[in-house]
Amino acid sequence: MSDPSRAKGIRRARTRTGAEMPVLGLGTWKMGEDPRRRRDEVAALRLGLDLGMTLIDTAELYSKGESEKVVAEAMVGRRDEVFLVTKVMPENASFEGTLRACDRSLARLKTDRIDLYLLHWKGRHPIEETLRAFGSLRESGKIRHFGVSNFDVADMTALERVPGGRDVASNQVLYHVDSRGIERRLVPWCRSRGVVVMAYSPLAEGKLRPSAALKKVAVRHDVSPYAVAIAWTIREDGIVTIPKAGSVEHVRDNAAAATLRLTPTDVAELDAAHPTPDQDVPLDTA
Ligand SMILES: NC(=O)c1ccc[n+]([C@@H]2O[C@H](COP(=O)([O-])OP(=O)(O)OC[C@H]3O[C@@H](n4cnc5c(N)ncnc54)[C@H](OP(=O)(O)O)[C@@H]3O)[C@@H](O)[C@H]2O)c1
Repeated sequence: MSDPSRAKGIRRARTRTGAEMPVLGLGTWKMGEDPRRRRDEVAALRLGLDLGMTLIDTAELYSKGESEKVVAEAMVGRRDEVFLVTKVMPENASFEGTLRACDRSLARLKTDRIDLYLLHWKGRHPIEETLRAFGSLRESGKIRHFGVSNFDVADMTALERVPGGRDVASNQVLYHVDSRGIERRLVPWCRSRGVVVMAYSPLAEGKLRPSAALKKVAVRHDVSPYAVAIAWTIREDGIVTIPKAGSVEHVRDNAAAATLRLTPTDVAELDAAHPTPDQDVPLDTA
């Protein structure tokens, strides 16, 4: 497989199920919503692939399937470079519903396989059914690995007792400098078991206003404060992140995070300005 992330020397994360992915990828929430932005979105994703951000995250939910279609356009001629992640909506996550949702996603994505298929969040269907469907999809080769999203420690612990639960490869959760609750228990839990934490909204859905600390570290490394915020989420092993950028300018900016190694001084300054909560807090969600 020709993956530009390897050529660019971008660190990789490995799950307990053997999936490997670059630590910096591309989000796609809201892509495909406005047809006038489509060309820019496809160009942004393709530039991201060129720059080694070869993990693309989408979902059947995003823009009612249009995001998956944008991703399909971006992958034309380069499917083998991409570690492709998409998600089933909880309301579809019965056994049969998951199988059907996967087929619809494959059709929109114009591919024969999904590298990582996630349950978007916990819903009314028993998780046993969803995992059974994931197992069946993996056997048929339609998905390579599966996982969950928006699961806290108690949910993850419960999963380990369900058939197939120990094959969960990744948990996608919200994480950015101003939302650090997962560092207390969830990240250590996942790291110790080889469940890759996929950090979403590393720029707080675009609401991140760079603090003086982010700006200071950015000047030191000659990158943007946004790149610092993204690099900070992947400063330790076991975490990958998927910022969304709809323009080539933002993608270029964010790509710098892939190889930016924060020093202990940088991390200490950022810690002081953006502290971890001093007690357990409920999982933050978008
Ligand atoms: N599993 C879940 O429940 C869940 C929930 C939320 C998100 N996600 C996934 O995670 C991805 C990322 O999260 P997100 O989309 O919520 O938010 P995000 O990545 O934190 O922020 C995206 C916003 O930041 C802006 N931006 C990107 N790069 C920038 C830069 N260098 N300078 C200034 N602004 C910049 C983008 O603007 P432009 O678009 O104009 O470039 C966009 O408005 C999503 O796209 C999705 O794939 C998953």
